[in-house]
Parts: sequence; C-alpha cells; structure tokens
Amino acid sequence: MVGGPSILAADFANLAEDVRRARDGGAGFVHFDAMDNHYVPNLSIGPLVAASLVPRTDLPVDVHLMVDNPDNLIPMFLDAGVASISVHPEAVTHLHRVLGMIRAGGAEAGVALNPTTPPETLEWALPYLDYVLLLSVNPGFGGQTFIPETTEKIRRLREMTDLPIAVDGGINAQTAPLVVEAGARALVAGSAVYKGDPATEMRKIIESGRRA
Ligand code: DX5
Ligand code: ZN
Repeated sequence: MVGGPSILAADFANLAEDVRRARDGGAGFVHFDAMDNHYVPNLSIGPLVAASLVPRTDLPVDVHLMVDNPDNLIPMFLDAGVASISVHPEAVTHLHRVLGMIRAGGAEAGVALNPTTPPETLEWALPYLDYVLLLSVNPGFGGQTFIPETTEKIRRLREMTDLPIAVDGGINAQTAPLVVEAGARALVAGSAVYKGDPATEMRKIIESGRRA
C-alpha cells in the first residue's frame, strides 16, 4: 500500500517544498490534478507546472487529467517526464488510442472513474491499463466528503481485475482503512495532508491504511 499527496491542496507558491514535506511523511508518489474549467468547474495546473516540478522531486508524478479532449496535453505531460497519466472515459473520444499514446510515451496509463461510473465500463480497456483511479468524490474540488459506496465499488473492481486501484477524494486517517480493507493499493489525500504538518499528516494516513 502506498500513499501520496494531492498537490491541489498544497501552496502553489511553495510547491517543491510542500511535496518534499509529504515525502518526509512517507509519500510514494505525487498526485497532480489538472483541471480545465470545462470537464470540471475549476481551473488548476498544467504541463508547465509539471515540467517545473518533475526535476525538483524524486517521487513519481501521477497526473489526473480532468480535462475534455486531453489528446493535445498528453504529449506535453509526457515531455515533462511524468510517471503516469489517468483520463476520464467521459472526456476522451477514443479511449483505446489515448491509453496507447500514454504507454507509447513511457508512462503508465490509468482510467479515472467518477462515483457513479460503473466499473464494467472498463471491461474492454483492461489490457491497455496499468491502474484504475477511483474517484470517491465528484472531481473538481478538494476537501469534499468521502462517498461510502466507494468501498463496494473497489470490491466489484477487484473481482474484475488485479490491476492496482488508487482511491482519490475524502481520504483521511478514518477513511483510509476502509478503502485499503476493500482492496485499494494507493491512497491519494489532499486536504487531509495539507491541513497541518504535511509529513505528520501523510504518515498518519499511510499508517492507518497499513493497519487495515
Ligand atoms: C478532486 C481531485 C482530488 C482532490 C482530493 O477533483 O481529483 O485529487 O484534490 O482532495 P481531498 O483529499 O481533499 O478530497
Ligand atoms: Zn485527483
């Protein structure tokens, strides 16, 4: 089991340092939320920030694309040296092609599923996937409440595949054990990490997940 900070909740003027502090708490990756004010009603960061961050951390940078038609952005994120990229199936026209583009660029390919998107959507994409990112809140904002049906969805996905499942949204020391017990392999946490000392809070979440 591995945990990592969603930098959406970090101080963007102090990003490299905020990532380092979560790493001190045992983070195994950095979750990078890209939003376009179109697919989701919020605007965040893109490939330029990824290109600045990648050389400043030894953690793999995992990009969660919440943008419509990400085809133009994917090569830019790949050039920035990110380790993995997930896309929302509702936001891409040709999922098979997009997943192939990510893998051909040397990154791991993931699909992000919204809270009510059925896991069965992935059936024919499974051979082209390296991981699944399950959204346990509606994408677009940090600091929302964990949707409890996510645990049942993790179990359903587990019956379909052995691919690593990451859970994103409302993860804290209370919800981490629930999703790990259901079969999640990676925990993404934003507000729960940056609400206090990031190293301490990251460690609390990872340890509570490991106790599950
Ligand atoms: C939601 C993002 C999440 C978000 C998680 O759109 O995908 O990564 O930053 O934030 P918390 O942990 O505060 O729910
Ligand atoms: Zn995310």
